[in-house]
Amino acid sequence: IKLKIIDRDGQLHEVDAPTDMNMNLMEVVRSYELAPEGTIGICGGMAMCASCQCYVQSEHDLPEKSDDEEAMLAEAFNVEDNSRLGCQIHITPELDGLQVELAPEEL
Ligand code: FES
Repeated sequence: IKLKIIDRDGQLHEVDAPTDMNMNLMEVVRSYELAPEGTIGICGGMAMCASCQCYVQSEHDLPEKSDDEEAMLAEAFNVEDNSRLGCQIHITPELDGLQVELAPEEL
């Protein structure tokens, strides 16, 4: 599927993401090096760091947040109504065309 990802410098990247490799959005961002190593995916995708926070800008229906994701976002910085943790968004065919913007680096 195609995803549109706006990096922390405001650059839009249109990337291909596989739906058959059990990847999540954070891993896609890392695989294309759209954020510097060490600034995203710090907890390894456990919903425990918020370094993968992103803002969902398209009208896609994403699966509900888990309790872990809700709890992490409640403590994170720069959280908006459309904030999600990238590591909790699994790449599925329904997400084709999804546009997200990476949240500022969590300090
Ligand atoms: Fe840590 Fe997503 S990588 S919360």
